[in-house]
Amino acid sequence: MYQKTHALMQRGIDFLGSEHAVLCGAMSWVSERNLVAAISNAGGFGVIACGAMTPELLDAEIAATRALTAKPFGVNLITMHPLLFDLIEVCGRHQVSHVVLAGGIPPRGSVEALKAHGAKTLVFAPTLALAKRLLRGGADALVIEGSEAGGHIGPVATSVLAQEFLPALAEDHVVFVAGGIGRGDLIAAYLEMGASGVQLGTRFACATESIAHPAFKQAFFRANARDAEASVQVDPRLPVIPVRALKNKGTEEFTAKQREVAAMLDAGKLEMLEAQLEIEKFWAGALRRAVIDGDVENGSLMAGQSVGMVTAEEPVADIMHLLMNQAETALSAR
Ligand SMILES: Cc1cc2nc3c(=O)[nH]c(=O)nc-3n(C[C@H](O)[C@H](O)[C@H](O)COP(=O)(O)O)c2cc1C
Repeated sequence: MYQKTHALMQRGIDFLGSEHAVLCGAMSWVSERNLVAAISNAGGFGVIACGAMTPELLDAEIAATRALTAKPFGVNLITMHPLLFDLIEVCGRHQVSHVVLAGGIPPRGSVEALKAHGAKTLVFAPTLALAKRLLRGGADALVIEGSEAGGHIGPVATSVLAQEFLPALAEDHVVFVAGGIGRGDLIAAYLEMGASGVQLGTRFACATESIAHPAFKQAFFRANARDAEASVQVDPRLPVIPVRALKNKGTEEFTAKQREVAAMLDAGKLEMLEAQLEIEKFWAGALRRAVIDGDVENGSLMAGQSVGMVTAEEPVADIMHLLMNQAETALSAR
């Protein structure tokens, strides 16, 4: 049915064990059992967002997801989680086939620990040199994510990363491209450049199966690309990873929060690491307020620039078919 698209995705399909090499990137609070299972059941590859979950919560989430789908899915772990190695143990116990290590360079021993459990690891890399080092060090696949994406972002656009990384790595490695993808035409283009598959977040966040609050979804449907702004770092001493979210009172509060934390640094009331954790805690709490409580004023509406293409609540299977159809049509017209 999607012959040309599948031919270009074959390596990604073999790697993921899914019908299409389309990952739904983990989204904290959004990517729980319902959306993850729906993505995998629709032929994509769902990924549980562990975020700040305890090992016990992750354990329950994996079991609950497995009860909803017999298809493969993965788990996304944030490398700065203080119990990272306990979370890896939980994944091992459940024989999770794929683990995505996000939020920073994987700490020593983490890739090895996952391999010992037989899991395939996917990593992010901000530079080509680091990507090569991680792949040499045992990582099984790479996700390159551009600044168009929702959530925590790097400074470089997906189109530029794709030109830098794919010609250098795609022949020998499995590389997935993420950030700003809203249509299948662009999926086709990245596949032609050598990508093994793609990862989307924003496009799936408001699917029917997503448990995100109706007010969160409405905010997405109303928003244009330009409303998804990257946060600004206020203090040069306090390195803040930019976050792309729909602008609201919450994004203004983030600026105020940075000033408050910087003042505490000045007064010697916080160490640098504590200061950075304060910043991350702000986002975790704010995202929950928007996604779960529907507080679209004070919460964080993390969204990528493709949000302008999200206009209605649709079942995951419909979105997946639309994307695959668009990719196939584009390739057939070449
Ligand atoms: C609401 C939201 C929450 C996210 N949370 C996470 C997360 O917890 N871990 C992570 O690695 N990426 C996270 N992301 C990024 C997605 O996994 C994905 O890579 C990204 O959305 C892809 O770009 P796109 O939004 O342009 O499709 C998040 C994105 C959104 C929109």
